[in-house]
Amino acid sequence: MLFGKTIVVTGAASGIGARTAELCAGLGADIIGIDVKEPRQPLAGFIQGDLSKPLGVAEIVARLPLRIDALCNIAGLSGAPGATPTVAVNFYGLRALSEAAAPRIREGGAIVNVASIAGYGWRANLNRAKSMVAIAGFPDVAAVLKQHEVAEAEGYPLSKELLLLWTQLAAQQPLFKSRGIRVVSVSPGPVETPILGQFRQVFGDARVDADIAATGRAATASDIAPVIAFLCSDGARWINGTNIAADGGLEAAVNAQILGY
Ligand SMILES: NC(=O)c1ccc[n+]([C@@H]2O[C@H](COP(=O)([O-])OP(=O)(O)OC[C@H]3O[C@@H](n4cnc5c(N)ncnc54)[C@H](O)[C@@H]3O)[C@@H](O)[C@H]2O)c1
Repeated sequence: MLFGKTIVVTGAASGIGARTAELCAGLGADIIGIDVKEPRQPLAGFIQGDLSKPLGVAEIVARLPLRIDALCNIAGLSGAPGATPTVAVNFYGLRALSEAAAPRIREGGAIVNVASIAGYGWRANLNRAKSMVAIAGFPDVAAVLKQHEVAEAEGYPLSKELLLLWTQLAAQQPLFKSRGIRVVSVSPGPVETPILGQFRQVFGDARVDADIAATGRAATASDIAPVIAFLCSDGARWINGTNIAADGGLEAAVNAQILGY
């Protein structure tokens, strides 16, 4: 399905990114991993780098291959390290990497962003998200959060709200649209990876356990990786500017509760 494609995977050293790299390689792609940590599995290429800072993103971009078929933005922080690094990695660093990589992504290629059900509130908080997404480039994130009066505990959900909104906007942005580059997102619910323990600290056991109970179990990285692989493939060529819930039905359950049906 992905034979001969070059796919860049951020967060390739752990969890969903590691499984996506393994699966896409098995489907014939050459994987270029990006992570702060060394991946355990061998990859066609690996760029060690830090997406939390403009310089880190610039250093990564300088080492990217000249031709990329898909960019999977999977690296992320849970909120536990603080709102500033979380919003920096999960949104502004991700967007800076995507915009800088765009000229290297082939016509008809794809950007697949891993968002989350935690970003469900993007519509309810739309004005804040619009204002923060409108800030171009990779800003001083601490100053942006202060200006928007973002509480520490909001860092993670906010980062995913921004990502869900930007995914829809980016699909219409000439940088991507003029060359037929699709921009899509995948939103998991709880997934059994190292970050899940941190979510328990940030959101509390009750919230995480309630989400798991709503679908019967937590996902594994193997439940999410095939969705990302499909979205990278030409079979997904008419899926653009939208979010795919890969959550075992959690969003449907939340919708029923919030919208009252
Ligand atoms: N696990 C879940 O329950 C869950 C649920 C919904 C969404 N997600 C999202 O899925 C994505 C992957 O998470 P995961 O579950 O695989 O977690 P994980 O902690 O196993 O993997 C995250 C990876 O991102 C890398 N990373 C973190 N900061 C970085 C930085 N500054 N620069 C480069 N790499 C960095 C880490 O080193 C790690 O390898 C994240 O965006 C997360 O928000 C996870």
